[in-house]
Amino acid sequence: MPRVFSGIQPTGSLHLGNLLGAVRNWTEGQHRADSFFCIVDLHALTVPKRPGEVGDATLELAQVLLACGLDPEVCTLFVQSHVHQHGELAWLLQCVTAMGELRRMTQFKDKSEGKDFVSAGLFTYPALQAADILLYDTDSVPVGEDQRQHIELTRDVAERFNHRYGDTFVLPTATVPAAGARVMDLQEPTNKMSKSAGSDTGTVGLTEDLASVAKKFKRAVTDSDGEVRYDPAAKPGVSNLLSILAASTGGEPAELAEEYSQYGPLKSDTADAVVALLEPVQERFGELRADPAETARLLRVGAEKARSVAVDVMARARANIGLLPLT
Ligand code: TYM
Repeated sequence: MPRVFSGIQPTGSLHLGNLLGAVRNWTEGQHRADSFFCIVDLHALTVPKRPGEVGDATLELAQVLLACGLDPEVCTLFVQSHVHQHGELAWLLQCVTAMGELRRMTQFKDKSEGKDFVSAGLFTYPALQAADILLYDTDSVPVGEDQRQHIELTRDVAERFNHRYGDTFVLPTATVPAAGARVMDLQEPTNKMSKSAGSDTGTVGLTEDLASVAKKFKRAVTDSDGEVRYDPAAKPGVSNLLSILAASTGGEPAELAEEYSQYGPLKSDTADAVVALLEPVQERFGELRADPAETARLLRVGAEKARSVAVDVMARARANIGLLPLT
């Protein structure tokens, strides 16, 4: 079976972009691959956090992911900081990553722009992400479009390491969905929907009240020409609704456009499709919230499974570099 790995940050609550761009592919693909899904709490620390904030968000995110359909009997769900090899390999990879490569990362540019405090961790973040992926001999990384650049860097770093120290890492490939790879903000449809940077009325949370979700779609920004057409450059708002509808129902955005002559029905059908997607997730989330100890137990089992793979790959990396073994 191919090995799949992906990660998600415990920052703010999960939104529709995370679900359609990544998590839905995780749940659908988990039976076809040996899958590892990681809550990347160390990545969340690259921007300042209150004491306790990341731990609480990690537990809640685990419950949302389980509610979305990740099955801990089938895949390995775990927390990054529970497997110490992530930090250890990240250091080795930082030493084969060029400053220039890190400077080119658009996520760093977006997240650092205009900030008073920019941590060194935010800059070297892609090396930690590369460590996450390479620690599991990963073949495929299911992510949204915004992560493609980080996966390409991971390949480059792995190739450089292999060239310098001998064959060590498997080269991974990004798997990006056909529809839903880049869900845009409902109010500012030229910006991606985002936990940290998006507008409140333009971001749809997975655990948000469903009446409020429907209202956000009905108030989504479109344009004034009145024609339903899939054209992301000229009609970003309408095209975003068509993409969300397609990703939620399994259709194709340009074909769906032909079924509508007005914005009103498109908005209400998209709202209905998303509400139908979220309803069972929210029900299950409510049940899981009642038993946090069970979620913590599942995460412990996940960390043990993850560690059993990570230990071997880490040992291979150390041996190939030729660090003096501890005897
Ligand atoms: P994060 O936590 O920002 O997002 C998690 C996943 O959701 C996808 N996503 C979107 N997809 C479509 N439309 C959107 N508006 C949207 N917003 C987010 C992301 O592409 C991602 O797949 N650096 C990563 C976390 C990470 C990781 C990894 C991912 C750390 N290590 C190893 C893969 C493999 C991040 O910040 O994702």
